[in-house]
Amino acid sequence: MSGVRPTGRAHLGNYFGAFSNWVALSREYETYLEIADYHALTTAFERTGDIAPGIHDVALDILASGIDPERCVLYVQSALPEIAEMHLLLSMIVPVAWLQRTPTFKDQIAALGGEIATYGFLGYPLMQLVDIAIVRATAVPVGRDQLSHIELGREIVRRFNHLFGPTLVEPEALLSAFPDVPGTDGRKMSKSYGNAIDIADDDAVTTKKIRSMLTDPQKIRRHDPGNPDICPVFKLHHVVNAERVPVIREECSTGALGCVDCKSECAERLNAVMKPVRDRRASIDPAGVARVLRDGAERARSVARSTLADVKAAISI
Ligand code: TRP
Repeated sequence: MSGVRPTGRAHLGNYFGAFSNWVALSREYETYLEIADYHALTTAFERTGDIAPGIHDVALDILASGIDPERCVLYVQSALPEIAEMHLLLSMIVPVAWLQRTPTFKDQIAALGGEIATYGFLGYPLMQLVDIAIVRATAVPVGRDQLSHIELGREIVRRFNHLFGPTLVEPEALLSAFPDVPGTDGRKMSKSYGNAIDIADDDAVTTKKIRSMLTDPQKIRRHDPGNPDICPVFKLHHVVNAERVPVIREECSTGALGCVDCKSECAERLNAVMKPVRDRRASIDPAGVARVLRDGAERARSVARSTLADVKAAISI
């Protein structure tokens, strides 16, 4: 089981860091994928109008990535009211201090000030645990930034099972070797930094974005030797052009390869790798997305109902 917030059109960091890994895992495991709109509400309560289009776009990108909706259960969080009910029940046993000490909570408060310190936002990691536990997931593929949430989730499960008897499954984080996908400015690719290349970008837009990337500032003329280790274009080559990395390192360092050619190759490779995904995205019937999500919600709900019934029986309510 894994989840993503409905932040709209997804980018290559989402694709290489999460979606492509989900596709691989879904061939091996029974898979639940959730678009977490309640989670979006915890921070976007002033811009709730963005949520519905964001759900549609991210669902399209997930399907374009190769997720087969017959095999995987793809659904929107708020279509499962059982999540809200189980969140309320579990909130009774989660000490406030556990939530307050979550690193992401402390970071967000530091970054955004007190405004975000709502009751709902404090409960973010509890809601994430409910997402996971309600479908009885054993493994949760996530990035490193989510590890503290999974760890807290495990503590909540242990506490529940200790208080009410063995009921919930303790999930494990599945950390895979996610590549570090740089944005066009060299920082981590992120929608909020405005440095993203989107899954849905076409070849021309992708090429233009890569051409605009900064390289080693000391490499001014074509034949100047460069330092690939500080160059974000070189990092992108690792993601889409791994077999050529040793040659590019050599040719950049000696000055044999200029940045313009290096970027062209990178853009070409990236566009080639993304072609099947982009073709699939263009061929998906947008009206079918709602149907997929409805069907996914129905399938997820049947598991969720049964878990919630177990939880209520354990608590005797
Ligand atoms: N918190 C995750 C993020 O910000 C998204 C998410 C919500 C999630 N529910 C989840 C991830 C359940 C894994 C499992 O990216």
